[in-house]
Amino acid sequence: MRIRLALVAAASLVLPVVAFGEDPPAKVSYYKDVRPIMQQHCNGCHQPAKPLGGYVTTDHANLLKPGEREKAGVVPGKPGQSYLIEQIKVHANGRAEMPKNRDPLTAAQIKTVTDWVTQGAADDTPASAKAVAVDAANPPKYSAPPVVTAISFSADGKFLAVTGYHEILIYETDKYALKSRLIGISERVQSLAYSPDGKKIAAVGGAPGRFGEIQIWNPDSEKLLVSAPVTFDTLYGISWSPDSTKIAFGCSDNTVRAVDALTGKQLLQMGTHSDWVLGTAFSQDNLHLVSVGRDMSMKLTHVETQRFIDNVTSITPGGLKGGLITVDRRPMKEKRMQKVPADTPGAKPNLYDELLIAGADGVPRLYKMHREVKREIGDDSNRVREFEKMTGRISAAIFNPDGTKFAAVSSLDGKGEVRVYDANTGAKVQCEKVSGPAYATAWHPNGKLVASAGFDGTVWLHDPATGKLVNSFVVLPKK
Ligand code: HEC
Repeated sequence: MRIRLALVAAASLVLPVVAFGEDPPAKVSYYKDVRPIMQQHCNGCHQPAKPLGGYVTTDHANLLKPGEREKAGVVPGKPGQSYLIEQIKVHANGRAEMPKNRDPLTAAQIKTVTDWVTQGAADDTPASAKAVAVDAANPPKYSAPPVVTAISFSADGKFLAVTGYHEILIYETDKYALKSRLIGISERVQSLAYSPDGKKIAAVGGAPGRFGEIQIWNPDSEKLLVSAPVTFDTLYGISWSPDSTKIAFGCSDNTVRAVDALTGKQLLQMGTHSDWVLGTAFSQDNLHLVSVGRDMSMKLTHVETQRFIDNVTSITPGGLKGGLITVDRRPMKEKRMQKVPADTPGAKPNLYDELLIAGADGVPRLYKMHREVKREIGDDSNRVREFEKMTGRISAAIFNPDGTKFAAVSSLDGKGEVRVYDANTGAKVQCEKVSGPAYATAWHPNGKLVASAGFDGTVWLHDPATGKLVNSFVVLPKK
């Protein structure tokens, strides 16, 4: 009895030391713990292309450096002397200096960053990740042309923007000379588009499995206006609202989203897709948004309320084969209001819009955006027309400026096709000398030139009337 009591007493003498003593904070990793916080909350305003306050948070070396106020961002071992720590500190009013005009970091995030500084602010970035750091001073180097996933003409036709590795490349269309390189933090620029008013370029991309990003650039000044993180994976299928105020895109978390084109602030998120969303298009009156994706559906969302309205395509299994990749709104010569199904209480007539969709099954299809008759299970009543199947999967199908024709590009087994279809009759022109799988296409605003590109980094310029190759160039910046 005595012995047991003594043991208990001895144990209880030891226990309190452990229970009340400070647990040493767990060892914090820059690469695994601190960097993702910067990525989500700071890099949008503190990256080489946009170093607000003269401060850059995208890599370890820059975190330590002083910004404009000449106070060291991080002094290893000394959180009290580190300006970054001072800037993220939450004041009595519940606000913090940084992230500027946003909610402060959480207490746990602030503790992570502070503990890392206290522990010596070591850099444990793996050597492989260090090698890929690129910015305007260290532009990406190419050993081979990049795979081109999107191209877009400026509204005046003077420039062609092409996706590169870590950058957007802008070519002058008179001689196809490289004019600018817009280098951001996304390794992959997946989709891009000039704004309808011609003043901006928006792009989405990211780093697979790490972060998604939307970028908005002023192509004239080459300034990055907005860089905003969205989800933790690459983004797809960008489109501008016709009034140039909103930008929509698809996400691999099965949502379609839209942001304000001035601020990058999210305005819309709609989550009824059941797989990745790959393409988006706004209605001509800016009120609705359609999205297509790997779940083989095209969905209609009301922009202001973010409400899902309808499945535009048939949702009958087997109605479509394989996922949808691209959607484009048809430019309409005449504006006409559309009747509303008799059984839809309170619904207002909408402006009539048509949408061109395509994807894995290689068949371009034309649909009306808004339903005119009551949905019957298994019907496909919004379908207007189907076009001849292309070889392989169609990654892009884009209307000409007057909506009478469209260009579509496809890929299969290392080969590609570029075709121009008459949107009314279905008549097709096959474009010549396409040297590889084609993923991107764009129509010159004068309607007389189609640009396409894809796997081998060649941009083909075809006459859409004859299919003749009138020019071509290889995307391969030298420096
Ligand atoms: C929305 C943009 C924005 C975001 C997001 C943002 N900052 Fe800033 N930051 C600024 C601006 C602008 C300045 C310049 C000073 C000012 O206006 O307060 C600045 C200044 C700073 C400075 C001082 C640099 C100097 O020497 O003047 C530090 C340090 C800093 N930010 C850290 C951060 C950290 C850390 C985060 C993320 C937790 C962050 N910022 C997020 C906009 C932003």
